[in-house]
Amino acid sequence: MTSPHRLVIAGGSGFLGRAVARHFSDLGWDVVTVSRSPSAVSMPGRWVRWHGLRQGEWAREVGGAAAVLNLAGRTVNCRYTAQNMLDIYTSRLDTTRALGTAIRDAAAPPPVWLNSSTGTIYRGAQTPQTEAAGEIGDGFSVDVGQRWEAALLEEDLPRTRRVALRTAMVYGLGTDGVMATTDPLMRLGLGGPMAGGGQYVSWIHERDFCRAVEFLVDSELAGPVNVSAPQPLPNRDFLRAYREAWGMPLGIPSTAGLIGLGAAVMRSEAELLLKSRYTVPERLLQTGFEFEYPSWPEAIAALVAEVREVGHAGR
Ligand SMILES: NC(=O)c1ccc[n+]([C@@H]2O[C@H](COP(=O)([O-])OP(=O)(O)OC[C@H]3O[C@@H](n4cnc5c(N)ncnc54)[C@H](OP(=O)(O)O)[C@@H]3O)[C@@H](O)[C@H]2O)c1
Repeated sequence: MTSPHRLVIAGGSGFLGRAVARHFSDLGWDVVTVSRSPSAVSMPGRWVRWHGLRQGEWAREVGGAAAVLNLAGRTVNCRYTAQNMLDIYTSRLDTTRALGTAIRDAAAPPPVWLNSSTGTIYRGAQTPQTEAAGEIGDGFSVDVGQRWEAALLEEDLPRTRRVALRTAMVYGLGTDGVMATTDPLMRLGLGGPMAGGGQYVSWIHERDFCRAVEFLVDSELAGPVNVSAPQPLPNRDFLRAYREAWGMPLGIPSTAGLIGLGAAVMRSEAELLLKSRYTVPERLLQTGFEFEYPSWPEAIAALVAEVREVGHAGR
């Protein structure tokens, strides 16, 4: 009997890691989660500790793996204080470098390494931003994305294909996902257009995120790949569909000032809501990836139906 393919997920104890672990485990893969502490929620596969910096026992899992996925990173949903900004950088750059070293030193390096990046690497835009023609922006979040992608390429790894996942906001079930935070606002009638609602929202359903990871493991793509649904839409339309999915007719609009205040109270940053993100997954589409949820109203209706049935807890 041949042993199952091994997927190593660094930073896999979080919202996306758990979803990917379930997906690949259902496909029959041997899933190994590498993180500083085990997930609070039960998840499939094995768990191995690391500190995100030094080599250790965990590096043995990298050798002979069929694929490595790195999702480690301190959440960006916080105030951008000097300490938090430092943590946002180091949690991404140190972990990426640690994986690069482990892959370089492995006798049997994995054929593919997918590393998280961010769709927010593009400038705030009202026009489509593709991998080939999109314009890189500026500011803190963009700098994080650029350094993250540069760290992925630091080592000379001739036997490993590398992909930077420029992922949009992922909507799915789980208490630490964005949806668990925004659902109550919709249900309370607070999900009206934000600062006029003209800024674009790029998003992806968690199932398509997991399917895109599977597709990229099997494909021959290397370099940056936009992992986002093909139909971004203005904030006002995004929120209207979200409210409708919850059956809430009321959506009180909010000004940019109010959002800044709300973000400060919730220890977050207004940029997360106000920047116009128009990411288009050109490379995925060109290579034949088919989205199960290309359109937001259908995606959010399906997700809300699932939340109504099982809730966010336990995922
Ligand atoms: N969710 C989204 O919508 C989205 C969109 C675009 C990009 N991304 C990126 O995708 C990655 C995963 O997202 P997620 O939503 O799954 O995030 P998450 O739930 O916050 O999980 C992040 C993971 O990073 C690890 N981590 C946190 N701080 C760390 C540190 N200082 N050093 C080392 N590891 C640390 C955590 O594991 P331990 O604490 O156990 O080590 C956890 O497994 C993140 O890098 C995020 O920026 C997410």
